[in-house]
Amino acid sequence: MTYAEFKSALAQSNCKLCGLWRSRTRIVVDRGNPRAKILIIGEAPGENEDLRGLAFVGRAGKLLDELMESLGFDTNRDSLIINVVKCRPPGNRRPTPQEVASCFPFLKKQVDWVRPKAVLLLGATALKHVAPDKKNFKMAQEVGSFFTQPDYPGVDFMVVYHPAYILRDRRKMPVMLEHLKRFIEKARGARCD
Ligand code: URA
Repeated sequence: MTYAEFKSALAQSNCKLCGLWRSRTRIVVDRGNPRAKILIIGEAPGENEDLRGLAFVGRAGKLLDELMESLGFDTNRDSLIINVVKCRPPGNRRPTPQEVASCFPFLKKQVDWVRPKAVLLLGATALKHVAPDKKNFKMAQEVGSFFTQPDYPGVDFMVVYHPAYILRDRRKMPVMLEHLKRFIEKARGARCD
């Protein structure tokens, strides 16, 4: 099976592994380039993503694209963007641990296919589920630093603030840009620290 076959099978599957199927319009598998060695992981589709079947195409996604583009990074060409859960939780609430557990094998498959060099986690939900050994973390202390994960040897991880948070608190913009710059430099193999 190719990544394209996996994607189309999941998108058309009418998956009912958790209850989110009841309120979703579409299953949102990803956006971007599955051949890129950089993976960006968010939380869950929002309203626009649910309607269009593409990850990060609403206001938060546009901000992410703009910030990355200002650093010479094209999210559609240079990365694959996915979410921890593939269906929109009602009212954009956080996905429950059960919903994440049902959906996680799809994320694992995506990581296996992409074999990323670097993974950018957007926000606390992505960090909590992709790096479960980080317990009781404070985002302010986690953002912007690289770490590794025993489950994914050789992969550099960084968590940054979720772009929806930056939309709510623009004062965090300069620090977000600084972190994204550091991530892109490392992901591209440049010396950065
Ligand atoms: N927020 C996310 O975490 N993911 C999306 O796809 C859109 C908004």
